[in-house]
This record gives sequence, C-alpha cells and structure tokens, in this order.
Amino acid sequence: MITISPMKDKDIAAVVEIEKLCFKFPKPESIFREDEHKYLVGKDEAGRIAGYIGVEKILDEVHIINMAVHPDFRGQGVGKRLMQHVLNDEEVFFLEVRVSNETAKNIYQKYGFKVINTRKAYYPDGEDAYVMRRIPGE
Ligand SMILES: CC(C)(COP(=O)(O)OP(=O)(O)OC[C@H]1O[C@@H](n2cnc3c(N)ncnc32)[C@H](O)[C@@H]1OP(=O)(O)O)[C@@H](O)C(=O)NCCC(=O)NCCS
Repeated sequence: MITISPMKDKDIAAVVEIEKLCFKFPKPESIFREDEHKYLVGKDEAGRIAGYIGVEKILDEVHIINMAVHPDFRGQGVGKRLMQHVLNDEEVFFLEVRVSNETAKNIYQKYGFKVINTRKAYYPDGEDAYVMRRIPGE
C-alpha cells in the first residue's frame, strides 16, 4: 500500500536519488529544497519512498513539473496513484514530456492528457518535448 504525503526535508535525499536514477539531466538537490512545497511523495508500508510528483499553479492552470517512480517500484500502479492524487475535475493541467518517452505518454493519455504542442529542443540534449494538456470533461 502506497501512502501519499507532502515531501518533507528528510525525504529530499531519497527523492534526489530517484531523480538521478530516472533522468538524464537530474535536478539538483537545491531545486528540491527551494520547491519542497510543490512535491508529494508516495511511501510504502516500510516508509520507503517509491516515487514522487511535483505540481505548481501557473496562472489559472496546474503544471505537473515531473513525476518519477523508483525502478524497483515500477509497474505496480505507483504512478497511477500519484496522478490520481493530484488531478481533479475543476482545473486545467499541463505538462511537458520527451517525445520518445512512451511509458510516460501512455500514463498521461490514460488520464485524459492530449498533445497540444511541440517545444523544439526543449531538453539540454536537443530532444523535443510534447506539451500535453488535460481539460476537465474533454
Ligand atoms: C512514467 C513512470 C512514472 C510510470 O510509473 P509506474 O509506477 O511504473 O506506472 P504505473 O505502474 O502506475 O503504470 C501506469 C501506466 O503507465 C503506463 N506504463 C507503465 N509502464 C509501462 C511500460 N513499461 N511501457 C508502456 N507503458 C507503461 C501504462 O499506461 C500504465 O497503465 P496500465 O498499467 O493500466 O497499463 C515511471 O516509468 C518512471 O518513473 N519513469 C522514468 C521517469 C519519467 O519518465 N517520468 C515522466 C517524466 S515526464
């Protein structure tokens, strides 16, 4: 069973470890400290951090900054739990995803996100990003 709660100081080291395992250009610890209030963590019964998600309000839309699940916990529904926790049927959500990231695109499509735009060379290695948006009831 995964329990979702706001990220605390003591969670940051584990979150940074997962970030390094999951992304080619991981965000440094300083960013997680500055943005601590934007992140939620999913923990198992033993208190181990299985994954996290970052969200921020930008004007009248909610931006999903990123989401990651530790490789040991993948394919067990942790990503879905994190998504279900942050989504609601009142607000518009958007996010960016690497065009090659099929797994992430699948989960976002499952939750009603649609590709609305491409940001050219959005990532430091030159890969494009899809901008995906979820409008309630669409
Ligand atoms: C994307 C990620 C968060 C998914 O987490 P997860 O806990 O493994 O996902 P879940 O088990 O909840 O699966 C949710 C859905 O994702 C998709 N999915 C999961 N694993 C997949 C795989 N190996 N291949 C294709 N689709 C997959 C499916 O649509 C799945 O739904 P289903 O089980 O009903 O078919 C995880 O793979 C991850 O951390 N990847 C690296 C970081 C990353 O790319 N983050 C997104 C950045 S935008």
